[in-house]
Amino acid sequence: MHEDIREVLLSEAEIRNKVKELGAQLTEDYRGHNPLCICVLKGAAPFMSDLVRAMDTYVEMDYMAVSSYGHSTVSSGVVRIVKDLDTSVEGRHVIVVEDIIDSGLTLSYLLDLLRRRNAASIKVVTLLDKPARRTTGLKPDYSGFEVPDEFVVGYGLDYAEKYRNLPYIGVLKEEIYSNEG
Ligand code: PRP
Ligand code: MN
Ligand code: MG
Repeated sequence: MHEDIREVLLSEAEIRNKVKELGAQLTEDYRGHNPLCICVLKGAAPFMSDLVRAMDTYVEMDYMAVSSYGHSTVSSGVVRIVKDLDTSVEGRHVIVVEDIIDSGLTLSYLLDLLRRRNAASIKVVTLLDKPARRTTGLKPDYSGFEVPDEFVVGYGLDYAEKYRNLPYIGVLKEEIYSNEG
């Protein structure tokens, strides 16, 4: 285990099994629909790349970067488009793929945008859901795990851009972020 991690919340095997389950469900629900999976960079990249490989159906992939946290553990509430989609979503069945929903601000913003661009349908799949911190009415259509209100990293989730490459999801030791201003 990494020295900055206090405890492992979800092991590699637990994540792998859940991703398989979600992939099987999406395969069933989207058969014949050629869905467009939108990865919300950067956090959702590992999850999306595993998820699409668990989907036994036609699927297209695109990437969008929106950032609200920057180098902080608290959402600024300001969502910024860093990279837009290449693909038109008009008339498409869109699956927005997220690593975690916290306040829900990032997704509310993104969903509004996609609705205005006239997607045929929009669903959200998130690996982690942290409902304790929700300030919006947002609920994911597909969710892997509910997590407690702790700062979790790994499998895409970062603190100050680090730990995204951990193959498991862990709770960061408090001393790592406690001297934040
Ligand atoms: C994190 C996470 C989600 C979002 C969730 O992204 O990956 O996208 O915050 O928080 P919210 O529900 O309160 O909006 P971040 O902005 O840190 O960018 P990143 O994915 O590049 O790390
Ligand atoms: Mn993100
Ligand atoms: Mg982040």
